Amino acid sequence: MNFRIIDIEKDKDLLIKFRKDTYIHSFGTDEGFDEIGYINRMEERVNKCPSGQLIVEEDNTPIGQIGLGIVDYCGTQIGYINLIYLLSDYRGKGLGKDLITNAENFFRDMNVSEYHLRVSSTNQRAIQLYTNSGMVKLREENKGQPVLRMKKIL
Ligand SMILES: CC(C)(COP(=O)(O)OP(=O)(O)OC[C@H]1O[C@@H](n2cnc3c(N)ncnc32)[C@H](O)[C@@H]1OP(=O)(O)O)[C@@H](O)C(=O)NCCC(=O)NCCS
Repeated sequence: MNFRIIDIEKDKDLLIKFRKDTYIHSFGTDEGFDEIGYINRMEERVNKCPSGQLIVEEDNTPIGQIGLGIVDYCGTQIGYINLIYLLSDYRGKGLGKDLITNAENFFRDMNVSEYHLRVSSTNQRAIQLYTNSGMVKLREENKGQPVLRMKKIL
């Protein structure tokens, strides 16, 4: 498994495909997904923090994506995972755990001691991966859909 920084023009279709599939896994549908708005947000993220916006590859073929950033949370800088994604053929092989390890190394390099993410309350597989990695539920939030905010202190 290797990682490369996202190239918006080159990877646009891949980014949309991965995000739509994540919506389906999270909320059962990709209805209402705003492709243009998402690509614009991704462009901002790549410009702000390229080393956190990565395509995951195996033998130079894209198999997933990871999106990491540093955000302000109640006046403190923390790490934030925007997206963790693996194509279906690459799930259930322990690679999700490797992506979390990569995220935690990134956050340590960025000198933050805590990170958060939000996950759909019904995405049991993702919640199990995060719980196994030592994340705990902080609270329930509603972003149009019920989600859990989870956190880990590094
Ligand atoms: C979420 C994702 C990154 C997890 O990576 P993965 O390597 O496939 O994870 P695993 O298959 O090891 O599953 C993680 C844990 O959940 C368990 N699990 C799998 N399916 C499950 C289910 N339906 N319900 C509960 N637990 C489940 C696994 O047994 C494993 O726990 P274990 O290590 O204690 O046995 C990957 O499945 C994925 O990309 N899913 C689609 C996109 C997505 O939902 N992203 C998360 C958005 S927040």
